[in-house]
Amino acid sequence: MENGLEDVVAAETVLSDVDGARGRLIIRGMSLDELVHGTSYEAVVERLFSGFFENLPFTDDLAAALGAARVRVFAHRSAVDAALLALPPTEGTRAMLARLADGDDLETALDLIAAPAVFAPMLIRMRQGLEPIAPDATLGHAADILRMLRGVAPATAEAAALNTYLITVSDHGLNASTFAARVIASTQAGLTSSVLAALSALKGPLHGGAPGPVLDMLDSIGAPAKAEAWLESALDHGDRLMGFGHRVYRVRDPRADALKGAVRGLAEAGTIDPARLALAEAVEAAALAILKRRKPNRPLDTNVEFYTALLLEALGFPRDAFTAVFAMGRTVGWIAHAREQALGGRLIRPQSRYIGPRPKEAA
Ligand code: ACO
Repeated sequence: MENGLEDVVAAETVLSDVDGARGRLIIRGMSLDELVHGTSYEAVVERLFSGFFENLPFTDDLAAALGAARVRVFAHRSAVDAALLALPPTEGTRAMLARLADGDDLETALDLIAAPAVFAPMLIRMRQGLEPIAPDATLGHAADILRMLRGVAPATAEAAALNTYLITVSDHGLNASTFAARVIASTQAGLTSSVLAALSALKGPLHGGAPGPVLDMLDSIGAPAKAEAWLESALDHGDRLMGFGHRVYRVRDPRADALKGAVRGLAEAGTIDPARLALAEAVEAAALAILKRRKPNRPLDTNVEFYTALLLEALGFPRDAFTAVFAMGRTVGWIAHAREQALGGRLIRPQSRYIGPRPKEAA
């Protein structure tokens, strides 16, 4: 039995292919590199949903339908109370998402994509004592998220950077959260149930919860010259370096480069502090050299979360909301996988091998 189900093929999918040896990601027939150049997030939603929903509209109409879903979901703001605001935004988003009805139709699916996009900015603002900003259904999804977060229209470069991020994380094979979504879908429970399970799996630091700790690491290191000593000491204490290593990739995660490109775009637009970027690049270089030396038998490279951290920080998201922002992009993938599983798959029900004590045999 493979510990952690490593290398076990548990589903067939038309949605995405993660080539861990060559560092390539295909999303429904297109390479990640192609997708992040000139594609809207809404077009990726259309691509991933194609064949899984009846009467799926084309991109422009789908963008309008997603805008309408943001407006529908915003109506749940009256349910936000003090107990919910006491939760970190990712957990608050999960609690709000649980209010949505289960279903298997396109309207449910679009409401679920809209949910983290609307609830996370809403909760971030309300936790700061600010009024939530209602969605503008006419805007692109990425631009509207940033407007709901800040109350003013984002710069073109900022909306483009978030659009790139949402596409980059939209789907990624049978990762832990997507597997969770498929397990729930295999019971025919409904899309909201699948997305709730997936969001819960995403939250852990070994999966989608790493970018906040990446920033904590950068803050703690403070200056490029201190990187090497800090990283060596962390590894001496048995810590893992957040933003490095992957279950499937044995080379650099291609998403790291897509996001590094988006971060550079923000630097050119003056949205990111050059000193912060220089620190991150120095820490990345030092970490890669140290990991190579200390773990010669296990290739460990930069993963998606390292540059996610810089990008989301520059766009103004607080670090305790980063996992909810990840969910803004990934929900479409979870839903597509859940539909694929529910339409063509069987109940997922593996076996366990009992290794505990057995009752005494009757004499
Ligand atoms: N820092 C230091 N050592 C590491 C790291 C790391 N980031 N990642 C793996 N290793 C080491 C382990 O200590 C282990 O060493 P050993 O064999 O000497 O004991 C070896 O590499 C193999 O580790 P596993 O735990 O078997 O690797 P696995 O495939 O289960 O882990 C994971 C993948 C969880 C992503 C891991 O690399 C990690 O913990 N990274 C840091 C957290 C992180 O960045 N998470 C985001 C992942 S991307 C995503 O899910 C969206």
